[in-house]
Amino acid sequence: MRTRLALVGLAILAFAGLPACRKKSAEPKPDLLANAYGAEPDWNDPQHIIPLSYTEAQGKRLFYDKCVWCHADATPAGPSNRSNLTPTPPLLNDGATLNSLSDDYVQNIITLGGSAMGKSAMMPPWGRTLTQDEIHELISYIRAIAQPPYQPPVRPGPKYSVK
Ligand code: HEC
Repeated sequence: MRTRLALVGLAILAFAGLPACRKKSAEPKPDLLANAYGAEPDWNDPQHIIPLSYTEAQGKRLFYDKCVWCHADATPAGPSNRSNLTPTPPLLNDGATLNSLSDDYVQNIITLGGSAMGKSAMMPPWGRTLTQDEIHELISYIRAIAQPPYQPPVRPGPKYSVK
């Protein structure tokens, strides 16, 4: 008797559960957060999604934490104070301005600040806030989102052959 009751109970539970299960598998919800740091829409063309490597994604996280307030993103009128700053900080996807600067120079200006590099002191030094690895991550993010795209300088081949 008890087993029969239990079986009926199980059957009811199974049927009650079924429609809910079906509905779930029919419309899987996209996980909006899953890829949030793994890609960045091109600021000049939101239809173009730029995939980010792990290092670049770390840079993206740091950019939206520390830099967006002055440098702005795709929405210069958005959360930033960019329009009030003189000189106006370059948008960090501005390839025309940033592509010609070497990684060493960019690493230095982020670490030491604008005044140490003959630029405006409005660009603060980050060397005591961020590690060199984090600054490297920021640079790889800046390079990844650059428009026109960043071309790394051609490096000379190995000087010595193994033979
Ligand atoms: C308080 C405002 C402010 C913040 C925050 C800020 N910057 Fe800047 N940044 C500036 C200004 C202003 C300039 C323009 C300096 C100039 O042209 O003299 C600048 C310039 C730069 C440049 C270009 C230098 C060049 O030679 O053209 C880079 C690269 C840069 N910032 C990176 C960053 C990064 C990365 C962060 C976040 C870690 C950051 N900045 C945060 C204000 C800021």
